[in-house]
Amino acid sequence: CSYLRPKDRKEVCDILCNGLARQEYRGYDSAGIGIDGDSPGEIFYYKEVGKVAGLREKIAAAKVDTSKVFNSQVSIAHTRWATHGPPSVVNCHPLRSDPSSDFLVVHNGIVTNAAALRLVLQNRGFKFESETDTEAVAILTKYVYDSQPDKRITFTELVKAVLKELEGSFAFVFKSKHYPDEVVTARRGSPLLIGVKTDKKLKVDFVDVEFAGQEADQKIVETLSPTTSGGLLAPPIVNPKIMRTQSRAFMSEDGLPQPIEFFVASDAAAIVEHTKRVLYLEDDDIAHIAEGQLHIHRLRRGEDGQQTPSTRSLETLEIEIAEIMKGKFNHFMQKEIYEQPESVVNTMRGRVNFDTNKITLGGLRAYLPIIRRGRRIVFSACGTSYHSCIATRAIFEELTEIPVSVELASDFLDRKTPIFRDDVCVFVSQSGETADTILAMRYCLERGALCVGVVNTVGSTISRDSHCGVHINAGPEVGVASTKAYTSQYIALLMMALQLSEDRISLTERRNQIISGLHALPGQIRSVLAGDTALKEMAEGVLAKSTSLLLMGRGYQYATCLEGALKIKEISYMHSEGILAGELKHGPLALIDENMPVIIVMTRDSLYPKVQSAFSQITARKAQPIVICNEGDEGISKDVQTIRVPQTVDCLQGLVNVIPLQLLSYHLAINKGFDVDFPRNLAKSVTTE
Ligand code: G6P
Repeated sequence: CSYLRPKDRKEVCDILCNGLARQEYRGYDSAGIGIDGDSPGEIFYYKEVGKVAGLREKIAAAKVDTSKVFNSQVSIAHTRWATHGPPSVVNCHPLRSDPSSDFLVVHNGIVTNAAALRLVLQNRGFKFESETDTEAVAILTKYVYDSQPDKRITFTELVKAVLKELEGSFAFVFKSKHYPDEVVTARRGSPLLIGVKTDKKLKVDFVDVEFAGQEADQKIVETLSPTTSGGLLAPPIVNPKIMRTQSRAFMSEDGLPQPIEFFVASDAAAIVEHTKRVLYLEDDDIAHIAEGQLHIHRLRRGEDGQQTPSTRSLETLEIEIAEIMKGKFNHFMQKEIYEQPESVVNTMRGRVNFDTNKITLGGLRAYLPIIRRGRRIVFSACGTSYHSCIATRAIFEELTEIPVSVELASDFLDRKTPIFRDDVCVFVSQSGETADTILAMRYCLERGALCVGVVNTVGSTISRDSHCGVHINAGPEVGVASTKAYTSQYIALLMMALQLSEDRISLTERRNQIISGLHALPGQIRSVLAGDTALKEMAEGVLAKSTSLLLMGRGYQYATCLEGALKIKEISYMHSEGILAGELKHGPLALIDENMPVIIVMTRDSLYPKVQSAFSQITARKAQPIVICNEGDEGISKDVQTIRVPQTVDCLQGLVNVIPLQLLSYHLAINKGFDVDFPRNLAKSVTTE
């Protein structure tokens, strides 16, 4: 959205497509843009199934005047991960209210009452083009607008009236031909931020929030219920109050109108190449941008309004564009695997003092006494983040002697798990935006538990809404299959356990042993990465033809097996399962014969003899396992195919062992010609339940 800053149409399209490409990890089954056409009120849409590259081609092939210059303009774009309706051009955003595009909307999230809204609107004669929940929102907006006798409603009041009807989660951007060069954006449950770019110095670096506004009207959907009065009730009339506009923002110092651009996005990665000055919207914020000014209003007032801070400050992003580029690597995933010797150091930087063996996690310091007094620690997470919790559970229990449970966030919610005020709940998430994990956190916040976030993305919902936490500082992770975030989460959780146990003299030796293990870790990861060629050959060998792969281990290595199996299935679409070797005889052994590929993790720790016996049980049934073992381990026969890794402390060994599995999964997927960074059906950040 630019004001007094001339831009030609090509530049507008490039900005949108580049921004989408940087957010593709959130979804990439279709992408679309809606931009101003040649005459007032006209909208040009470009939509394509698949990735943003396809959309770019479509725009390039379209015969439009790309040199047309706009002095001020608003354009919107979206990359989709299908929830309602399959990936197709008609279901692609922006969705419009009608063929003349009175209103167009892009949406991240799910409107859970969309079916009811659709029915109500269809009963009033509106035609739907798509199967999406979002289209109901665009049409509802038109319906409310058309119902106003004098059409004097402001864009903000209009959207406010619409949002009151919606259930579910959302981040929206609205554009309309009735409000040229204006944009309204709002969030509830899905992330949203606004970047500001201007050449002049800004007079203020925050925006006041406008808490005034109309009181809750009767819900329109209730009024319009298709079951009442044959659906012929009066249309919804919104009574807009005169807005108090003291929340005028971003005046330049000389008070003159200034050329300015605003970038609304779900993720800072989409806009960082244009500006580093951003403000994050809170749930139930509605932002209105027009004539170079930004106003933020609240959807609800009263109690909720009073608890929410009354300003949104402009923050300066610290990520660099280079950090989200591929560099010399073929894929983001490959780059991120190779970054781990540095990313693990970044996680420890300023927190582990290798001279004094002291750990300091600044974000937790004030809360340590509460955590130590907690009656249990409950971890909730999804996917890879869940595995990092499994990987560190034993060391948490050993060092803190506090009972620990590890929960998959969705299941935790499904079970309505009992949570109490003296529980400590830890939410681990790379993105900090995973809907299941956020909902689990809200559930625990409501029950008064201390909520600790362990996230990678600064400014994300979990990092902002938890009481305290740790940023894992792994740097932006773009590949859908998480790699460096796993090792950094693992270390962050380990540091947390170490810090919690610093007052236990009896554990000093164990703690010192772990901290010196952490010191050696980057070098050990580097040495595993140096063996990449052998892993590539292994992936091209017998495994290339396999349709299934079992990974076995126990103790600390169970998490390694789960994570290795997840990597393999995520990107090479091959069935693969992580099996607790202790459970082998209780079922999985039936799968074993000479044709079943197995990887068994047999690095040296106290459970080594037990894993040896699992090894014997499967080889007795003619399996020919690949063994992950320590360098120089003479206990493994020369005939066995091995992946040899450096030895470290038991609770750190999983950090080393997971690296060959990440590389193996990468090569398996490459061999099959799959798009490693964007595996089918998956999104990096799943912001819907
Ligand atoms: C998605 C991704 C996984 C990720 C999980 C949790 O399912 O595909 O790779 O591990 O979400 O994401 P989070 O951002 O919460 O760590």
